[in-house]
Amino acid sequence: MNNIKTVSVKASGSYDITIGTGVLKNVGEMLNKIKKPCRAVIVTDSNVDELYTDTVMESLIKAGYPADKYVFPAGETSKCAGTFIDILEFLASEKITRSDLLVALGGGVVGDITGFAASCYLRGIDFVQIPTTLLAAVDSSVGGKTAIDLRAGKNLAGAFYQPIAVICDTDTFKTLPEKEVACGYAEVIKYGILFEKAFCDKLMQDENDINEIVEKCVIFKRDVVEKDEFDNGERKLLNLGHTAAHGIEKVSAYSLTHGQAVAVGTVIATKIAENFGICEKGTYKEVENMLTKYNLPIKYDITPEQLCDAALSDKKRGGGKLTLVLPEKIGKCILYDVNVEDLKEIFSQAL
Ligand SMILES: NC(=O)c1ccc[n+]([C@@H]2O[C@H](COP(=O)([O-])OP(=O)(O)OC[C@H]3O[C@@H](n4cnc5c(N)ncnc54)[C@H](O)[C@@H]3O)[C@@H](O)[C@H]2O)c1
Ligand SMILES: [Zn+2]
Repeated sequence: MNNIKTVSVKASGSYDITIGTGVLKNVGEMLNKIKKPCRAVIVTDSNVDELYTDTVMESLIKAGYPADKYVFPAGETSKCAGTFIDILEFLASEKITRSDLLVALGGGVVGDITGFAASCYLRGIDFVQIPTTLLAAVDSSVGGKTAIDLRAGKNLAGAFYQPIAVICDTDTFKTLPEKEVACGYAEVIKYGILFEKAFCDKLMQDENDINEIVEKCVIFKRDVVEKDEFDNGERKLLNLGHTAAHGIEKVSAYSLTHGQAVAVGTVIATKIAENFGICEKGTYKEVENMLTKYNLPIKYDITPEQLCDAALSDKKRGGGKLTLVLPEKIGKCILYDVNVEDLKEIFSQAL
């Protein structure tokens, strides 16, 4: 095992996030330090199953965790009530007990649905996150938000439920389609704009160590989650670029990935900040340069009305105000409340 990094999280559950190359084959051994031998169920999707289940299963069995697997078709449409219930039924039919373990092996879809299943099954059993996408590594596997989508919208049912460990093997990113890598970088760049100019400068270098990038992002997110685990304040900062992104995703009929939409949304947020005089004119160009370097779009054909509709149907809205996340400069952002009736005009000036 080379170049291993560990980040500790202290939230309602405390656990370590281990980041490294080639750690997948050591998952069982690593679990030995925190969980007595028990039965394990790997939950994964059809793509990841073909690539990585065997390695993880072998490692679990060798370390004393007899393992089964539950595989569902890859894609966001699987993050639904049907799959969720199927997972619970599978666990029950296999007579998995409260002292057993779920292992979420995959991207954010797998992590979110498995975490939610773990929070519900027998009123809560332990689970481990093994993120295999860059997005899941830097974002969804950290912080304990779990969810499924409902017909009315994304992530509408879920729980705050922390894993007992996160184990991230950055070698798994090598098999990711290019689009998925870019998607992850949209969130990576988001952290840079939110928290550290020097990190943004690093991202503009020709070569970077992926383990370092993941570690840095995980620390950024960890620090926010530790202060505001249940999303009542500072955690809202992580929505930078996301208010517009939700609208863009919807209008594109999901032909744009979440990360691509976040990229465009981040440019829009920066332009809004410029228009309000919150950040220096021209800051958006720096944002665009970073996004372009990582093959992300900076523009999408959408009307202010469409953006407004989506922003106002967002579940995170409270009262007649909407909280936007706006950069003051690269490396520092603020929460900024705007009146809902002004939103269309605000968007129209930033498109
Ligand atoms: N819980 C949170 O805090 C949080 C935060 C951000 C996003 N999310 C959720 O995460 C989800 C998006 O996550 P995602 O982008 O990882 O999507 P995903 O899980 O659908 O993975 C993207 C695609 O990559 C494939 N894949 C995964 N790992 C692979 C690998 N190593 N090699 C080859 N292919 C691989 C998957 O099968 C899938 O087709 C959304 O549902 C979103 O709501 C949750
Ligand atoms: Zn996101």
